[in-house]
Amino acid sequence: MDRLLVITIPVLSLLALSLLSEVHSTSFKIVNKCRRTVWPGLLSGANTAQLPTTGFALPSGASRTVPLPRSWSGRIWGRTLCGHDSQGRFACVTADCGSGKLECAGGGAKPPATLAEFTLNGAGGLDFYDVSLVDGYNLPMLVVARGGKGGGCSATGCLVDLNGACPAQLRVATGNGTGRGVACRSACEAFGDPQYCCSGAYSTPDTCQPSAYSLFFKNACPRSYSYAYDDKTSTYTCAGADYIIIFCPLPYTSQKVLSARKDSVQLPLVNKTTMYIMSKYASGASFSGLMRARYARGFALSVLTSVMVLRPYL
Ligand SMILES: *[C@@H]1O[C@H](CO)[C@@H](O)[C@H](O)[C@H]1NC(C)=O
Ligand SMILES: *[C@@H]1O[C@H](CO)[C@@H](O)[C@H](O)[C@H]1NC(C)=O
Repeated sequence: MDRLLVITIPVLSLLALSLLSEVHSTSFKIVNKCRRTVWPGLLSGANTAQLPTTGFALPSGASRTVPLPRSWSGRIWGRTLCGHDSQGRFACVTADCGSGKLECAGGGAKPPATLAEFTLNGAGGLDFYDVSLVDGYNLPMLVVARGGKGGGCSATGCLVDLNGACPAQLRVATGNGTGRGVACRSACEAFGDPQYCCSGAYSTPDTCQPSAYSLFFKNACPRSYSYAYDDKTSTYTCAGADYIIIFCPLPYTSQKVLSARKDSVQLPLVNKTTMYIMSKYASGASFSGLMRARYARGFALSVLTSVMVLRPYL
């Protein structure tokens, strides 16, 4: 009896300790609203704790909550069109992490990939987060802060599908480039030009300006990072929050879902131009009908925007 007690007490206190540290941690709830499976990948930054998982399959409609230590930094993305090759290696058409397995195990996303980036409990105890298209785009993504106790806690992300509307020079498509678009490269990756990469003579915020290519991303997704020095309108803060990360969110996600706190940021989450066309679509206009109407009126830009929002993954 005595011996049992001697064993039980340390076990119980360990249990209590782990419960306690659970209370002080935060969490990501990762949700897949895409019509197909997404394989989230998670990469911890240097000098930050490893997570219980670095990659898994998330079927359409499913969600999974990943607990995190209070001070964590790293990124999360969604891999698409994954499977095992003839050698039994796991690989994905977009955002592959090169591990050959379901878990990324320290591997980062191969561009192009939409990235959600976090520094939790950073300067001033604030969490810093953004959704970045600097390494290109492969999926619509939304980050929502829940239960924050300071900071702006705005939702951020890129809510529209840019794979269909991607400029030809940036487009990544199936079938050796002849099939449907599955991702959209950044101009830096596509052309390697220092002007687009903010490197060399263009390595400061003053010398590296937005380009026509970065503006394509910024116009569609005003709160996302569209080039390396897009910080002012692309980084958001919150304190002590949990985060919901949604793949393929509805572009007309309600304001109630988006912000528990007052939203004071200048840029909208969705560009009203795309919002307008989306709501027409949602209220029953058929795809081809809408396209015909647009073509008939010769609104090339509207056609572009329709293609953008009417092709939710995949
Ligand atoms: C894909 O296209 C490139 C050039 O467009 C060509 O060189 C290559 O052979 C093609 N690959 C396949 C598998 O068709
Ligand atoms: C919305 O998109 C249009 C055209 O693509 C662009 O001119 C406008 O600046 C965008 N608005 C925002 C807030 O990004």
